Amino acid sequence: MPNVLVLPGDGIGKEITPEAVKVLEAVLKGRSTSLNFQYGLIGGAAIDEAGKALPDETLAAAQAADAILLGSVGGPKWDTLPAPQRPELGGLLAIRKALSLYANIRPVKMLPMLVESSTLRAEVVENVDLVVLRELTGGLYFGEKGRGTNPKSAFDTLIYTEEEIQRIVEMGFQMAAKRRGKLCSVDKANVLESSRFWREITVEIAKRYPEVELTHMYVDNAAMQLVRWPAQFDVIVTENMFGDILTDLASMLMGSIGMISSASLNGNKGLYEPAHGSAPDIAGKNLANPLATILSGALMLRYSFGLEEEAQRIERAVERVLQAGYRTPDLAKSGEKVLGTREMGNAVVEALK
Ligand code: NAD
Ligand code: IPM
Ligand code: MN
Repeated sequence: MPNVLVLPGDGIGKEITPEAVKVLEAVLKGRSTSLNFQYGLIGGAAIDEAGKALPDETLAAAQAADAILLGSVGGPKWDTLPAPQRPELGGLLAIRKALSLYANIRPVKMLPMLVESSTLRAEVVENVDLVVLRELTGGLYFGEKGRGTNPKSAFDTLIYTEEEIQRIVEMGFQMAAKRRGKLCSVDKANVLESSRFWREITVEIAKRYPEVELTHMYVDNAAMQLVRWPAQFDVIVTENMFGDILTDLASMLMGSIGMISSASLNGNKGLYEPAHGSAPDIAGKNLANPLATILSGALMLRYSFGLEEEAQRIERAVERVLQAGYRTPDLAKSGEKVLGTREMGNAVVEALK
């Protein structure tokens, strides 16, 4: 029986992960595969209970697990710690790096019944179906390549190796080839050396994928185009920090940040988490939208366990609940039925039946 390590983390992470587990258990009930869920500490919760954001025990369990489901980390309580010890760097970035989870897939698909929930006009967001493929273990985020603070200055370095670029861009081409055949590589090649290097490598790889139409776009333009005409995109491939920023923006194309799921992959090892954070402003109030985490569970079935049919059953169940007019507060408009975090999880379980 495959082992799934559940790392709830902090804030709403503790509320949304149980809903995803509930849905995964329900969809696999009576099927030939069932999952064995184990639990571990990460982030602020781990700092408080075990003295560091990624305890050795958690890392060992993650290495041994077949897949990982993560909630979110961080919160005001730990914001004053030195950066390397914080839940974000010491916990989340550390586990991504330790497991070499270099490929982060963030699907952005507007569900028709949520068109009115977006802050953007219906004609802009309807038909949006794109994927952002974010490089996850390189670039500015990773301090071993040089970061520091002096009394009068501070610095981070943005380095990408050829191998790091090749493997993520290659994956971008493969994804695009299986979808609508369009890959947009987002960079800042008009300014950054690392982006010019990225572009050179991308152009080289493109020669092996004549069926994929490759375009390049500067990141500032990409941010604008994502709200101007998002339906122009199929697959976007980009470096770590650009991908971080663009995916929070892109989440609103689906109506809420509470809808954006993600898979962080390295070969067959996968960590699944919503792209949003621990939402300290609503934590502990049963207000968080658990759907991004539930949909991340579907991505786990798809990418780690090859259970495409079950993954789709979860996705269809989510759509049925939304179609019936149920919404968490982040998505709700007047006239819709507002559910709490737990009740939304229960509704998805019901809709699976
Ligand atoms: P955030 O994503 O936590 O919250 C931004 C806004 O979106 C808040 O108003 C929040 O209430 C709302 N929101 C987020 N998820 C929601 C959900 N599921 N349902 C309804 N509303 C939701 O970003 P932030 O406020 O910038 O960061 C808060 C903390 O989370 C920080 O410590 C940050 O470092 C951390 N963080 C962690 C992750 C992660 O673990 N992957 C990601 C982003 C931020
Ligand atoms: C995300 C988060 C993380 C990131 C933070 C918490 C380190 O914002 O997963 O998008 O920037 O990668
Ligand atoms: Mn982010």
